[in-house]
Amino acid sequence: MRGELRAYINSDFIKEVRDFKLRHPGPMPQSDDWSEDSDDVPEHNPIFEAVPRIAERHGVGIIGHGAERVILPYPNDPTKIVAIHYGRTSPVIARLTYYSHRFFHHLFPQHFPRTYAIFGSEFDDRDRPSGSIRQRIYPNEPVTKEQILDGPFKRLARECTNLGIFLRLDYSRGNFMNGTDGNFYYLEEMHSGSMPFERDRGRIENYIAANGFPSSQERHVLGSFDTFFRLQKDFYRNLGL
Ligand SMILES: Nc1ncnc2c1ncn2[C@@H]1O[C@H](COP(=O)(O)OP(=O)(O)O)[C@@H](O)[C@H]1O
Ligand SMILES: [Mg+2]
Repeated sequence: MRGELRAYINSDFIKEVRDFKLRHPGPMPQSDDWSEDSDDVPEHNPIFEAVPRIAERHGVGIIGHGAERVILPYPNDPTKIVAIHYGRTSPVIARLTYYSHRFFHHLFPQHFPRTYAIFGSEFDDRDRPSGSIRQRIYPNEPVTKEQILDGPFKRLARECTNLGIFLRLDYSRGNFMNGTDGNFYYLEEMHSGSMPFERDRGRIENYIAANGFPSSQERHVLGSFDTFFRLQKDFYRNLGL
């Protein structure tokens, strides 16, 4: 993470949020059940009320917050946001997640905002937060349940299955946004395991050809695909698997 950005992030605010989260862990992450709409089962998570309160006390303006991250405006650039993880992402997972995002963004740019960087931090490094820099989406009309369950992500899920891609999404309403650009976006950080479950590069190449992607887009999709698997191989090798 660049020095200026580290200086911009109010570390006392982040530390207080992190300590709160450690003391009040809240419900466990939701299941991967595709049809689940968590709005039907409101789960009380103390962090939801705590973050705005702590932010106000520290004079920090926030854009949004979830169970895992707080979203801040990016300094002097209205097109980006900074997402700070309450916990920690290891640097290895951060790199895998970055290439997973890059892959999905370039494959479906109308549905996955661009991620500019993901920064991890080592376990013993209390002062360096983990997080990401992403494209900022400005909200238009509210998201409906029908849009989430029957909208474009239903088609996307089908397309991904045909491509051999494991698209693992958290279907809570707060993770989706109708952007002022007319696109319907998934905002949540991608799971680092959300990638092709078969390394069938040919199927993705065919999809790119069938959809007439410009060559730069093709390069970005396939480049991210290759890098992801190279990193994943290193990751498993380092674990001795
Ligand atoms: N790229 C973005 N642009 C604008 N607002 C965002 C963006 N990403 C997240 N947000 C806002 O912040 C909230 C929490 O972000 P999210 O990534 O879902 O956090 P968490 O990982 O904790 O669930 C979202 O519900 C949304 O309102
Ligand atoms: Mg979320």
